[in-house]
Amino acid sequence: MAIEDKIQRLLNKREEAKIGGGLKRIESQHAKGKLTARERLEILLDEGSFEEYDMFVSHRTKEFGLDKKQYLADGVVTGHGTIDGRIVYVYAQDFTVFGGSLSETHAHKICKIMDQAMKVGAPVIGINDSGGARIQEGVRSLAGYAEIFQRNIMASGVIPQISAIFGPCAGGAVYSPALTDFIIMSDKSSYMFVTGPKVTKTVTGEDISVEDLGGASIHGKKSGVTHFIADDENEGLMLIRKLMSYIPQNNLEEPPVTECDDPIDRKEIYLNDIVPDNPNKPYDVKDIIHGIVDYGEFLETQRNFAANIVTGFSKFDGQPVGIIANQPNFLAGVLDINSSRKAARFVRFCDAFNIPLVTLVDVPGFLPGSGQEYGGIIIHGAKLMFAYGEATVPKVTITLRKSYGGAHDVMSSKQLRGDINYAWPSAEIAVMGPAGAIEILWGRELSQIEDEKERAKFIAEKEDEYRERFANPYEAARYGYIDDVIEPRNTRFRIIRALQTLSTKKDSNPPKKHSNIPL
Ligand code: HXC
Repeated sequence: MAIEDKIQRLLNKREEAKIGGGLKRIESQHAKGKLTARERLEILLDEGSFEEYDMFVSHRTKEFGLDKKQYLADGVVTGHGTIDGRIVYVYAQDFTVFGGSLSETHAHKICKIMDQAMKVGAPVIGINDSGGARIQEGVRSLAGYAEIFQRNIMASGVIPQISAIFGPCAGGAVYSPALTDFIIMSDKSSYMFVTGPKVTKTVTGEDISVEDLGGASIHGKKSGVTHFIADDENEGLMLIRKLMSYIPQNNLEEPPVTECDDPIDRKEIYLNDIVPDNPNKPYDVKDIIHGIVDYGEFLETQRNFAANIVTGFSKFDGQPVGIIANQPNFLAGVLDINSSRKAARFVRFCDAFNIPLVTLVDVPGFLPGSGQEYGGIIIHGAKLMFAYGEATVPKVTITLRKSYGGAHDVMSSKQLRGDINYAWPSAEIAVMGPAGAIEILWGRELSQIEDEKERAKFIAEKEDEYRERFANPYEAARYGYIDDVIEPRNTRFRIIRALQTLSTKKDSNPPKKHSNIPL
């Protein structure tokens, strides 16, 4: 065969691989408002940067007539490319080939790029659109999944792992994303469940739609499984590019610092008045975040899940940080099971990847009640405490208003190795709020006052006394638990200075196999 013919053969094979399961199935994918695997990678990666591996791989199954159904690439497009010039490894499942289901060879392709990403020290981004284990391959497909899971586990905390869910993901297809750092779901076209509606109905009798069982809004609000919901795939892919701008290539590198011309000493006068005089009145902590970070840009994670705590990425003078903030606008910013879980995982991601933590505190305490106690708030609250206490990255904490009880200790307090802890003049740092404290300290006296007016007067007097003593930042500052009381309008500058000071911080934990975080 002449070389021209050999090259033509190569080009023909490439064309064959590029159409996956065929034009008809591509049309049907488009008709569902979904892109193909290759189209997705084109949007995700810098133009012309994609290098594909294993385009000519096909499955080895003969059973169920599969020997006559061969598709090049076997349902997943793998390789590497760049995002803003930084290398990332990628895989994108191709729903047009056996519904993107995972065969032994499909799994080996994913494992190959994961192994190489670990050697190179680069993130892995997986775009999932799969019917799960390829049924015709039986246990070999299950083994393929387990090979991927094991690699997800080994890569955790070494290289960032990001999962996009752009279609149905059932069974094994949900567990690999669950082991990764961030999940992005496209609204109305993606689903995640361990067991689909049909099997659910058979086993439990529950009749439920795919959307209600595992749609993006369920995982965004109720379960907290997904970190981001995108209106469409394009937005989801752009979100991944944005997320990458805050995180390093691996755990041995620093996150990418960028040029910043937002003045570091920009004062925001409105911050001096943002905390209401009435301690029971809410305000939106995101108004503070937007005011202090570079250009007001904040990439919020799990926006609709446990909204009583806000987590996400921003930059201060170009330095990426993770922000954790109690949200007085939702459940008064109380710590409960879900908010503790949400924030703990976020803190641990940042710590694993050298991203400093900025914590904004306004927390009335832990949410009381049997619902929380029966659900294990003790163990879940301990997760957040553990995460902060174990973290060795720079930790800057600003107490805006309330910082009460156990929640005070948890929220990056000095004793949990908080590095620089500032408070606004509006801060109230105590074992509990005045109302609860008066009930306990003066309960006997109160029970002896029968006249309502007298009683109210007594309470008001005692509350004033208590506030004077504890509901301010100076009691904590007196002991050095607060390093300084700062004017709110100067907060951006003080945080940037603190981060600059801490940029060479070195801290470590004692040698151990691993810690035993209360899971
Ligand atoms: C082989 C599959 C497949 C699978 C889909 N297909 N899932 N082939 N193995 N798991 C094929 C279909 O036969 C069809 O082929 C094509 O993909 C498109 O599928 P449709 O059903 O026509 O598409 P749609 O109506 O959009 O439904 C998509 C779906 C559904 C919701 C994903 O296909 C489905 O429910 N699949 C099974 C999901 C599942 O239960 N998977 C196993 C999970 S157990 P043709 O040739 O007609 O185009 C598991 C164990 C791992 O994963 C455990 C590890 C912990």
